[in-house]
Amino acid sequence: MLVQTLKFMKIFTTKENKKLTEKYWLLTLEGEIKKPSPGQFVMVRAWPGFDPLLSRPFSIHYYEPGRLSILYEVKGRGTKLLAKLGPGKKVEILGPLGQGFPEVSSRDIILVAGGIGIAPFLFTAKEFIRKGHQVHLFYGARTQNDFLCLKEFEALGVSLTLTTEDGSLGTKGFITQPLKAYLSKHKKGVIFACGPMPMLSAVAQVTKESGIKAFVSLEAHMACGLGLCLGCVVKHKEQGYLHVCSEGPVVPAENVF
Ligand SMILES: Cc1cc2nc3c(=O)[nH]c(=O)nc-3n(C[C@H](O)[C@H](O)[C@H](O)COP(=O)(O)OP(=O)(O)OC[C@H]3O[C@@H](n4cnc5c(N)ncnc54)[C@H](O)[C@@H]3O)c2cc1C
Ligand code: FES
Repeated sequence: MLVQTLKFMKIFTTKENKKLTEKYWLLTLEGEIKKPSPGQFVMVRAWPGFDPLLSRPFSIHYYEPGRLSILYEVKGRGTKLLAKLGPGKKVEILGPLGQGFPEVSSRDIILVAGGIGIAPFLFTAKEFIRKGHQVHLFYGARTQNDFLCLKEFEALGVSLTLTTEDGSLGTKGFITQPLKAYLSKHKKGVIFACGPMPMLSAVAQVTKESGIKAFVSLEAHMACGLGLCLGCVVKHKEQGYLHVCSEGPVVPAENVF
């Protein structure tokens, strides 16, 4: 298995590492991996030696042949090291990994993002629009300065509903409030959600009440990223545990909440 893992590990080169806001960065890498499905992730390692020991998981923010980008929030040791990368540096990439957002028959796709949970949705929106879906984005942030990629979503033709906790842009409050109001009027579509666990739980509750199918991208600490350890397990509602890395990160909401 280790040999197989190493076979999938690719060396990419940094093209650009751009600070977007106080805490968010966009890392663009050059190299080749298999075309990902929207919502899949990669394990990233961009430091020599064993500190930190483990690679870190990141959603695929954008992909085109020969190029991959990661939208990340600087949190701890690993992401602080990522933020120091200049152009032309080597980065180890393992992936694409996990289960992304599924193909669905509904024409309407409703994306729900909280904070850095926006990361997988630019590529997701692009791919689903290309397949003929209509995409609406519900996006919640702390303050107006925390929104990312709004122009890019608009350029794709995605309609936007925004909320901020301080009311500085969009409606004041949490994103599940306008989502609930929207779903009570338009009882159709499929929800794809990514963000902090409390937001995912609230989305699961709202969609259950509305009878709308929802898929959530789960957060978990990861070690191998390949289903080999128990680093990422979360409790399945009915069947023991699930590995977020290999059976997720995207799962039907009712499997967990
Ligand atoms: C499938 C998946 C996709 C992800 N995609 C992105 C992405 O696109 N952009 C992005 O910024 N982040 C993403 N994350 C979260 C990212 O992996 C962590 O923020 C990162 O590993 C933190 O590493 P660090 O060394 O900087 O922080 P650490 O020093 O390891 O930890 C700093 C803090 O962050 C918390 N933390 C660490 N790992 C996670 C995690 N996996 N989930 C929640 N909290 C965590 C720790 O508990 C601690 O409080 C994703 C996580 C998963 C599981
Ligand atoms: S991270 Fe090892 S099993 Fe998921």
